Amino acid sequence: MKKNILITGGAGFIGSHTYIALVAAGYVPIILDNFCNSNPIVLERLERISHLQLKFIKGDIRDSKLLGKIFLDYNISSVIHFAGLKSVGESVEKPLEYYDNNIIGTLNLLMAMRSANIQTLVFSSSATVYGNPVSAPISENFARCATNPYGRSKLIIENILEDVYQSEPGWNIACLRYFNPVGAHRSGLIGEDPLGIPNNLMPYIAQVAIGRRDHLNVFGGDYPTHDGTGVRDFIHVMDLAEGHVAALEYLYSKRGMLTVNLGTGHGVSVLQMIQAFEQASGMKVSYKIVNRRPGDVAECWADTTLAEQKMGWVARRSLQEICEDAWRWQSNNPNGFNS
Ligand code: NAD
Ligand code: WQD
Repeated sequence: MKKNILITGGAGFIGSHTYIALVAAGYVPIILDNFCNSNPIVLERLERISHLQLKFIKGDIRDSKLLGKIFLDYNISSVIHFAGLKSVGESVEKPLEYYDNNIIGTLNLLMAMRSANIQTLVFSSSATVYGNPVSAPISENFARCATNPYGRSKLIIENILEDVYQSEPGWNIACLRYFNPVGAHRSGLIGEDPLGIPNNLMPYIAQVAIGRRDHLNVFGGDYPTHDGTGVRDFIHVMDLAEGHVAALEYLYSKRGMLTVNLGTGHGVSVLQMIQAFEQASGMKVSYKIVNRRPGDVAECWADTTLAEQKMGWVARRSLQEICEDAWRWQSNNPNGFNS
């Protein structure tokens, strides 16, 4: 029988793409989202891509009663937990909101899962838990450290999950540490749609290319990297989505606790990304090199050996595919979901 999977935050960027990967793998995903950082139009788009009627509940992960009802009504087998706030800068301004949404929300989810006897969970962690890593590639046994409230919320949740796994028999938990998710589903129907001025590189580049912004500020041209700009591990969001399917399958077959990096294992600099995007889109991306952004590290990319060994998963899509898919999404939807 097909398994029902609850995806918290499933209307968001990564959750919506994971919805498609889950359907393709034969699961029945059910989305719970309060739309605090997403647009309801995504639900229609997911139906168009999957040709299936979508199961959706509008609500908040901090609502225990609602969670209990969902677990009862839908015979949920496991949970993929994306719901959370994710902006580093905003977390410095509003730490309480971040701890409330991310930590209290996760505690509430875990308690509701325990009451319903559901013990399989995939959690969205982040490379941010490595703080300022001493070198790259970064493997899972590197020291963890938080440099801002957002990162601290992820680190605390990882610790909570480790404690729960140790103390209560029967839990199966995957902590997936994402590097830099980018790109979009190849249909061009869903993609990243940040509210306001994008914080992240890829949506900013795409908005310059479509003419919504004048130019990109490149934060720092004097890093000790091959061209002086920051280097990151940009992973296609559909590769990342498929990583969640691989993690679920690992938990169902091998059981236990798994903490793995999800990245490509390769670093790409900001200037290389601009060039690749110009090539894929045929558009000019004007930029100016400005001061470094406080808190940024020079280089950050993943050692992906463990994910391959444990789950048989590797990122397959190229930088060119990332840029082509991001451009298809941006050019078909110049103003995002509200185009
Ligand atoms: P997103 O903001 O697009 O998606 C998160 C979704 O959760 C949104 O639809 C939002 O409305 C919903 N949500 C937030 N709080 C909620 C709550 N209390 N109850 C119900 N729904 C709620 O973000 P994303 O990029 O898809 O990220 C998903 C997860 O992955 C987050 O936990 C994020 O911290 C983590 N992550 C993201 C990145 C990245 O670069 N995008 C990198 C590492 C980790
Ligand atoms: C990438 C590179 C910037 C914007 C963030 C979070 C991290 C994780 C992923 C959630 C850097 C440069 C960027 C711009 C630029 N999220 N840049 N001009 O900082 O690696 O990671 O998202 O967990 O926690 O910190 O991603 O896309 O912001 O930056 O030059 O307008 O692009 O300096 O070198 P980052 P990013």
